[in-house]
Amino acid sequence: MDTKSRVPYQVGLDQEYRQVICGAISGQLQNDPAGLSPQSGFSDDFGFLLKWRKWQKLKQINEVAKWGREWQKGGDWSPHSSSMAQARLLVPAYIEFVRVMGGGGAFRGEREGLDLGAGAGCIAAVLQSVSTLRMTASEWNDDGLNLIHRENPDLPARLIDLTSFDDQQKWDFILCRELYPFTRVNSFTDQAEMVSRIVDALKPGGVFLLVGSTASFPHCADYDLLADTFRKDGRVRSVSSIFLEAVLVRFTAYRFLGRFGYVVTNAIARVLLPLVKGRKWAAIGVIAFQKRGT
Ligand SMILES: C[S@@+](CC[C@H](N)C(=O)[O-])C[C@H]1O[C@@H](n2cnc3c(N)ncnc32)[C@H](O)[C@@H]1O
Repeated sequence: MDTKSRVPYQVGLDQEYRQVICGAISGQLQNDPAGLSPQSGFSDDFGFLLKWRKWQKLKQINEVAKWGREWQKGGDWSPHSSSMAQARLLVPAYIEFVRVMGGGGAFRGEREGLDLGAGAGCIAAVLQSVSTLRMTASEWNDDGLNLIHRENPDLPARLIDLTSFDDQQKWDFILCRELYPFTRVNSFTDQAEMVSRIVDALKPGGVFLLVGSTASFPHCADYDLLADTFRKDGRVRSVSSIFLEAVLVRFTAYRFLGRFGYVVTNAIARVLLPLVKGRKWAAIGVIAFQKRGT
């Protein structure tokens, strides 16, 4: 491949990511879609190392894309997406958490909510049924959209690839739960860019809930770093610390203890749960971002 026509390293991963994902979806995945393999030919050693690391990362993302293909098409989606029963446990916990963190306005009155990468759409459906949110469930490919239509036919669904999402001030509440671009690859710049796109898409005062696990650690987002980064972002009013989803679900009954109760219980659980559950236990963390009002 001609060096000049190759995608330069400086180009954000998201462009390459989309190329790779699209390649996987159409079944035309090349071994070296962006011309990044070390065999593609380049001159200096430093460039070699950078490209080698990038190539490794792309190979990982390819596999992530392929998982999506199989289960969305009509197989058993339950290991990849929350069921109705799980959604009924999670949704009240999320709503209470957002309220306690000061973002309850997102659930008052007629509001617009978006579940990005909604899987089968069960969480979006429950959110719509227990709150005043008008929910839209999104997936990033046609198979994903068809899955939402099959499992939750009454739910409005939209095609959105988070890596190119460009809504502006449209949503009061956005949920991203267990999205592969956050949970399966460690690529801070691209993950920060995705969060930034979501912040742009929120209306003033809107809330974004990022829920992500460390199941593939170290191949997952650095959630602490993301939270720290957006605490310094002028568009953002507040970013909570990371709360364990398991704590939020159990804590719904003790919400009268308020924010302090959440903080203390979470701090204790973050120390104790890994000891009780063992080293292979993967935490699912929840972070609430609130955009500044007007
Ligand atoms: C583990 S599932 C989570 C489904 C759902 N959010 C839940 O928690 O039940 C991960 C989801 O990420 C979606 N996804 C992967 N890449 C994406 C992208 N670039 N934009 C939007 N969604 C994406 C997949 O299609 C899949 O539905």
